[in-house]
Amino acid sequence: MRILITAGPTREKIDPVRFISNRSTGKMGYAIAARAAEAGHDVTLISGPVALECPPDVKRIFVESASEMAQVVHANAPAADVIIMSAAVADYRPAHPWESKMKKQPGNLFLELERTEDILGTAGKNKLPHQLLVGFAAETENLEANALDKLQRKNLDWIIANLVSDGFGSDTNRVIIFNRSGEKFPLDLEEKSTLAQKIVELILQNK
Ligand code: CTP
Repeated sequence: MRILITAGPTREKIDPVRFISNRSTGKMGYAIAARAAEAGHDVTLISGPVALECPPDVKRIFVESASEMAQVVHANAPAADVIIMSAAVADYRPAHPWESKMKKQPGNLFLELERTEDILGTAGKNKLPHQLLVGFAAETENLEANALDKLQRKNLDWIIANLVSDGFGSDTNRVIIFNRSGEKFPLDLEEKSTLAQKIVELILQNK
């Protein structure tokens, strides 16, 4: 199968030397890409800026901002059988980035932010009948309710949910996976590489 995976953070430009980003390491998405390629699938990994090696037999495309990630995802999505969005995409970007390096001024600085595209939401609207769409939900509270709400709202087939305190930025994670019918698959706290194998097995064996 052709599998498209997003991973890592995005960077949203403030000026030529500054940006807004987040603590995502990309490890979960890279581990899923590695396991899926080992299982013989044709894997394209759309990655934000991270310090990780490209797994063997994976085609990696580096992007920086949410809007670049959106362009590359939408260009590659129609050919994919499975789309897995693990990237921590910025929800907002500076509305008026500076072309030259911003000089400090006396007093406070107010930065106006505008919404970025919800890439997964668009992929859900454009989903083709044979496609499986998988999202992630990193929450600080109400894990189950928020995850199920995202699953419905974004037209997903699966959602992989975790508490930020359990996995964000670390080598291990504890996730609960839900399918479209609301069935629940809780997995134990594990190394992300082990979890990735279980996620690939669960999701791809049901395809
Ligand atoms: N996502 C995306 N594009 C965005 C934001 C998020 O594709 N601009 C994807 C992520 O890759 C992840 C899922 O959407 O798979 C969950 O992201 P999240 O930001 O938690 O979802 P929201 O619906 O924006 O929820 P919240 O109300 O928590 O901001």
